[in-house]
Amino acid sequence: MPASPTATPERVKEANVRYHDAAAREYDSKWGIDFGPIGRQQVRGKAEKALGAWPDRPFGDALEIGSGTGYFSLNLLQLGLIERLTATDISPSMLAELRATAARLGLEPRTETVDAERLPFEDRSFDLVFGHAVLHHLPDLEGGLAELHRVLRPGGTLAFCGEPSRYGDLLAAVPKRGAMLAAPIWRLLVGAPARQVDPAERSDGHELEPAVDVHSFRPHRLATMLREAGFEEIRIRGEELLANAYGWTVRTLEGSAEPDEVPRQWRELAFRAYIALQSVDAALLEPRLPAGLFYNLVLSARRPLASRR
Ligand SMILES: C[S@@+](CC[C@H](N)C(=O)[O-])C[C@H]1O[C@@H](n2cnc3c(N)ncnc32)[C@H](O)[C@@H]1O
Repeated sequence: MPASPTATPERVKEANVRYHDAAAREYDSKWGIDFGPIGRQQVRGKAEKALGAWPDRPFGDALEIGSGTGYFSLNLLQLGLIERLTATDISPSMLAELRATAARLGLEPRTETVDAERLPFEDRSFDLVFGHAVLHHLPDLEGGLAELHRVLRPGGTLAFCGEPSRYGDLLAAVPKRGAMLAAPIWRLLVGAPARQVDPAERSDGHELEPAVDVHSFRPHRLATMLREAGFEEIRIRGEELLANAYGWTVRTLEGSAEPDEVPRQWRELAFRAYIALQSVDAALLEPRLPAGLFYNLVLSARRPLASRR
């Protein structure tokens, strides 16, 4: 649900820092983030969809905004799509998790805690500017896109995945509500007790969830904003319909139980089913249905070689 229209940009950003700082430690397990073969395969698939194909040559200098714990950028580094990574985020704790994972994987990204709307980088510094599930958190999206355009080199590529579509966001409410109703029966079936919410956890960011999401997107409106920011060769696609409805159902069910009591076999089976549904979406639905129907939008664009600004 988007933030209140009266929330100031500063409040949205402050809420983002508090919410993501509080979420950082459990973030990877909550969202099933993986840095092994499965994670790399997922991220490769998303990048291919956004870019239209896997590029022949890697990008030299790459900047990620809203890197979080590194799901997208560390997997892209491992895949060799980028040579030098600058990973940034407004939340210091998310970046601390990213650094710990990078060290474990033997990777050496540069990291900076920064607001994506005010980047401390020179004009024309990067060949690729990218991100995953972050544009919808930026209060001044027009200003943010202008900033991304500024730091891209002429001919450089912009690529984003995992941005919620307007219609997909509404659709996601259905499985969430259904799963909340079904949760007591599901907990009985898998033998997991109801989650006891720690008051500290409740006052430490979780109540901010509705305050951090400021946009969901209509594809044609997003394309217009990109064009107005100076980009060309804009492509926007939809991603995940069945997988997403299923994913929200599973996350809502699991979130209702004590995390350590959810059986491992359930988690493994649920994850495998999710991956299978992603394949069904990619093979059958994504090529045929309009982008706006899907939960996520993936996009790419280019800064023209002869930029006027
Ligand atoms: C939904 S999380 C996604 C994290 C990561 N990209 C991933 O896909 O796992 C959004 C991230 O954007 C960051 N963020 C929110 N507002 C931001 C801003 N104004 N500037 C930079 N990062 C921001 C949050 O701190 C958070 O880490």
